[in-house]
Amino acid sequence: MTDTVSTKFEPKYYFANEEENRSRLWNNKSWCTIAEANVSFNLEAFWKVVERWTNEVHLVIPPIERVEIINDIENKTYDSTHDECLARIDPIRSINRKLIPKRKNKDDELEELVEYYIDENLNESRVVYTPILANSKELLHENIPFYYPKVTSFSYVYKECGQRTSSNDDSEIDYQSQIFIEIIPLLQSFEITDKMKYAYKQLFKKLYKWCQNTSMGYEKRIHHDLLVPKELYKNTYQRLKNKYATDLVRNWTEKTDPIKFVFEDIAIASWLISIWELERVEQKSSILQSFIDLGCGNGLLTFILSSEGYIGFGIDSRKRKIWDVFIEKGAKLIEGTIQPNLITYPSIDWIIGNHADELVPWIPIISSKSSSSTKFMVIPCCFYSLSGSKYTFPNKTITSGRYKAYQEYIEDIIKKCGFITEIDWLRIPSTKNVVLVGRKRVDNSKNILADAFEVDIDKNNSIMLLI
Ligand SMILES: C[S@@+](CC[C@H](N)C(=O)[O-])C[C@H]1O[C@@H](n2cnc3c(N)ncnc32)[C@H](O)[C@@H]1O
Repeated sequence: MTDTVSTKFEPKYYFANEEENRSRLWNNKSWCTIAEANVSFNLEAFWKVVERWTNEVHLVIPPIERVEIINDIENKTYDSTHDECLARIDPIRSINRKLIPKRKNKDDELEELVEYYIDENLNESRVVYTPILANSKELLHENIPFYYPKVTSFSYVYKECGQRTSSNDDSEIDYQSQIFIEIIPLLQSFEITDKMKYAYKQLFKKLYKWCQNTSMGYEKRIHHDLLVPKELYKNTYQRLKNKYATDLVRNWTEKTDPIKFVFEDIAIASWLISIWELERVEQKSSILQSFIDLGCGNGLLTFILSSEGYIGFGIDSRKRKIWDVFIEKGAKLIEGTIQPNLITYPSIDWIIGNHADELVPWIPIISSKSSSSTKFMVIPCCFYSLSGSKYTFPNKTITSGRYKAYQEYIEDIIKKCGFITEIDWLRIPSTKNVVLVGRKRVDNSKNILADAFEVDIDKNNSIMLLI
């Protein structure tokens, strides 16, 4: 079981649009938030519930007998990031379905578009329901069947906030996210009837309850502390938090949310320092491990590890403003673009790839080539393949399974590089919290790479993957 404490359901509703302006632009459309609540369940639970409701709509709309799926298109190469707030993003899945009512003689069928979105810039996942009226009927209040919300579009949103809520025991860590109902009203000025208010409240409560219950099922299956004992991790986390957190949050110069990055990187550093301590005990060594953080971003992880005495550096193709502060305090941060098929780090003990985008699949290969004792840890995040382009999922993988499927792709590379994959789940706000570790090898022979991939290994021991 995790330590996650379930957040009490305390929803806020915004039913009167003159009361407070709750509208915002998303994907070029103006959405009104009508319900909001803090939650502690995970994103997987949200998608699992959404998926179930897509196929079994009677669970949410009782007058519906069943759905007929007309079309189900998965966008395998979607790009969920966008530079400008107003840029359009594509759904990762579009389902065209027909709602078949129980009282066939009395109620109309309704065709509907269901779209799944992942907006990585906003840390939001969203399902959008849009009614499509047959026979060129206009989308008007009176043309929408009684069992359906009177809206242009309706959506459930899950936002990963990465906020920290204190629990009774300060050493326990609990994370908080939010869920919303957002709608595009039929008219700019809209009024929600008492009946609709009741319906929205019921739906929101149901979403919360179902996700909470699903999440409890998940949590039982997720085991933290597989590679690092809980007590060791927590003591290290507490020590690093006391030492660094306040100053870092106060003096954050980046535009990003300091709460998210500071606590997440303290957690990752705590896990690494703990596993390195155990390794030194096992090796009866007092020499601190050396490291390199590939795609180090803001350099915070490198800064914390360096400040704790570990010799190492971070590399990123883009320098961040806050680097100056960290460099002044002794961190080594280098601006440069890594060519992953050419580089090796033979004198480094551990190679780190924390959400390192297209470098992640390469890190086991770089480690394998570097030396027989080089180890690595990667936290996979965005789905990149070895070619540097977005990973194309080979089989139909539902939304909740994409992260797992990508993890398996990386595990396959790790295995092909001759490592035994070890897995742990980090106690970080991000739901992408799996860490894959390569510190044990089945065979020290470097030729394993040539056997595994179609590669050329030249005299300088640089390899070219023929992909
Ligand atoms: C998603 S960010 C993560 C940053 C950081 N590790 C973190 O977790 O906050 C990925 C980073 O990898 C860097 N990156 C990607 N490919 C790179 C390459 N070939 N050489 C250097 N940096 C690279 C990007 O510039 C970006 O800063």
